[in-house]
Amino acid sequence: MVGRSVAAENWQPEMEQPEMNVQKLIETAKMLVADNKGLLAMDESNPTCNKRFAKLGIPQTEEARRAYRELIITTPSLGEYISGAILYDETIHQQQRNGIPFIKAIINGGIIPGIKVDIGAKDMAGHPGEKITEGLDGLRDRLQKYLQMGARFAKWRAVITIGVDIPSRGCIEANAQSLARYAALCQEAGLVPIVEPEVLMDGVHTLSRCSEVIEEVLQTLFNQLYTQRVMLEGMILKPNMVLPGLTCSQQASVDEVADATLNRLLRAVPAAVPGIAFLSGGQSAELASARLNAMNLKFKLRSPWALAFSFGRAIQQPALELWQGQEANVSKAQQVLLHRAKCNWAARRGEYNARMEETGA
Ligand code: 13P
Repeated sequence: MVGRSVAAENWQPEMEQPEMNVQKLIETAKMLVADNKGLLAMDESNPTCNKRFAKLGIPQTEEARRAYRELIITTPSLGEYISGAILYDETIHQQQRNGIPFIKAIINGGIIPGIKVDIGAKDMAGHPGEKITEGLDGLRDRLQKYLQMGARFAKWRAVITIGVDIPSRGCIEANAQSLARYAALCQEAGLVPIVEPEVLMDGVHTLSRCSEVIEEVLQTLFNQLYTQRVMLEGMILKPNMVLPGLTCSQQASVDEVADATLNRLLRAVPAAVPGIAFLSGGQSAELASARLNAMNLKFKLRSPWALAFSFGRAIQQPALELWQGQEANVSKAQQVLLHRAKCNWAARRGEYNARMEETGA
């Protein structure tokens, strides 16, 4: 069963009958948001990873990407705060320098491995300025391959942009349908779908515009998930927080963000969903922790779902900046990575505060 220690040395991917999948999906989804832990998104595509390396002068090579991912997954005690790690196709096939496959190391560290399965957001025909995520063709076969490698959950990211006259209904509906079809295929395969509709922070839009868009996106998405017969108990929603655009003249306080986010989610997300794991979307690491903390402080008691995290940059970025591609910096970078994981674990308990940043404790 999923509830056993995933750190078991002799862990083997199990092939199960479809009727067994329902219970297992529910258990895995619950485990991903249990014990105040959250997900670590380390599934940047090669171009995205290279872009982040280039900014810091790190070589954009397969070996540099491998070494960086080894740094992350060999961080001591990471499994105390992180429930699942989302990998990219290149990464799931890689190994530590000592020959141990990444996926085995992750499982041995008590972390559930997951995999990004979309193949990216592309320009949407007939919809200038908007994107549609691709990757449904051949997905059923790819999911089987990842399951056999040991993945237990998957991720698909849809991108919604706010601007003049956008998002359009066409973009929202097409992305919602793709997310729902992906989720149904995942559950058929026995993988928990992480369903990620990301409304981007870029733009001059206000907090209230962002919150209207998010409600429309989520209503449309859950309508599609229902239509495509996705089992809500066996999925995790990965939304953005409700935020004003990055270049909006009126920014919002931590409490305003927490209120706006939860008020919209409570209107649009069914209680059957076990967990909401927010993406960070380019917020600073500290703000992402502070906002998650405020949501848990103010809403934990009346939220039907766990309020968790599935951060990429908000966990990784400070560590990446410290690492700089240098072997000598690995241990320090791992401490910083662990610190961010711990801050977000504390935020789920409503116990994060600025002092944690000063002391690094
Ligand atoms: P960020 O937290 O950096 O937005 O990454 C999360 C993610 O998985 C984006 O798809």
